[in-house]
Amino acid sequence: MMVSSVPDNSPFYYGQFPEDFVWGVGTSSYQIEGGWKDDGKGPSIWDTYAHTDGRIEDKSNGDVACDSYNRYKEDVQLIKQMGKIPYIFSQVKNYRFSISWSRVLSNGTLATRNEKGIQYYKNLISELLKNGIKPLVTLYHWDLPQALQDVGGWESDKMIDYFSDYARLMFQEFGDQVKFWTTFNEPWISSLLGYGTGTSAPGIEEIGTKPYTTAHIIIKSHVKAYRIDWKEPKTQAQSDIDAAERAMQFMLGWFANPIFGNGDYPEVMKQQIADKSRKMGIPNRLPEFTEQEKRDNLGSSDFFGINTYTTNLVSYKDNSKSTKPNHFEDQDNQFSTDPSWKGANSGWLWVVPWGMRKILNFIKDRYHNPVIYVTENGVSDCGQIDDQSRIEYFRAYINEVLKAMKMDNCNVKGYMAWSLMDNFEWGAGYGPKFGLAKVDFEKNERTRTLKASAHYYADLVKQNGFTQ
Ligand code: NOJ
Repeated sequence: MMVSSVPDNSPFYYGQFPEDFVWGVGTSSYQIEGGWKDDGKGPSIWDTYAHTDGRIEDKSNGDVACDSYNRYKEDVQLIKQMGKIPYIFSQVKNYRFSISWSRVLSNGTLATRNEKGIQYYKNLISELLKNGIKPLVTLYHWDLPQALQDVGGWESDKMIDYFSDYARLMFQEFGDQVKFWTTFNEPWISSLLGYGTGTSAPGIEEIGTKPYTTAHIIIKSHVKAYRIDWKEPKTQAQSDIDAAERAMQFMLGWFANPIFGNGDYPEVMKQQIADKSRKMGIPNRLPEFTEQEKRDNLGSSDFFGINTYTTNLVSYKDNSKSTKPNHFEDQDNQFSTDPSWKGANSGWLWVVPWGMRKILNFIKDRYHNPVIYVTENGVSDCGQIDDQSRIEYFRAYINEVLKAMKMDNCNVKGYMAWSLMDNFEWGAGYGPKFGLAKVDFEKNERTRTLKASAHYYADLVKQNGFTQ
């Protein structure tokens, strides 16, 4: 099957985005808030994970992070002041942030409602609105309350009720002011990295059933946001084209097909996993949805949220004889990159702008042309204020979004740059910097300074596109 007919390198496109296009910037609770045990907040699995020796590259954690628990007003001003001329306020009018579940419900359940935690988000939301910035809220950006992990975490279907109690409470508390919600940020990370490679909290390492069962429970808890990067066939051999298609289905399709496709896991995933399980002489590792569940999955989202950063090349590799099983063995795929691609400060991130257009087209073609929001896109460097390479990245990637809209009719309604400011980059600690603003972690002062890219981005937003 052909993965994409969209060209790899097409000329720069001059033109405008629609007037109502949603421009924003993003962050997440554990990466910026700090205050990890302030005012009744309970620990989350990321507190536990980051406090465990050997988990974080630079031995850091999010105990203080950007101190946004105390400095959220400064964060709001950053968004507002992004324009080159400070007294002309920026047109970046949307802020995507996440709620820390264990800040509002200390052990995750309604019985442990934490007023001060709820108040924190009320303050943040009203500060945003007061400054003309809309709040876009993610309910789950990887920081499950530790107390819920202790009763089984995403392996337990009890989470479905806990999550919906929590979500309902958030809708009740903030729903009159927040109109844009996403449930899960990048569920692939929570499942495969949290319960497979062990490189994300809760850090469970096994080659087995857990990634599939946890994903199943997360989907049932209503998945709406994804992290996905483009998978390009390494050669035009049919086996590589099929391999790239499989890789897309094993990452994006795993979560998207149940909700936006036909209600169920992708066919190729069902076949490969059943096949491999049979060969291994074990029961099928992929859980099944009932007919009713399939019906319920479909249409359980108002838009398709996509986080995308990079591209990989994929070629076919027969893993059936592999003596050293790996987490991608179900796919029979091998991943690589092109030597001409520019890297970033994160080892997994290669600058390949056309991947953006291809992935938007993939979503359009496979999932009935849904409304799409690019909920994250950005690049890491060493943190310099004059960050020309970030400017180039945004210019090129955002231009591919425009091409996808204008030339291919993709239904993209918004774009959120990652990230408002440098922050705790999970297992990589404070090394890779993704911010439009620098945060002074060195002197421990945590002052914020807008970088050149913030001005560039604000300018692009003000122009609402690219003029010659
Ligand atoms: C995806 C995640 O949602 C975000 O938390 C992370 O910092 C960025 N990608 C960059 O890796």
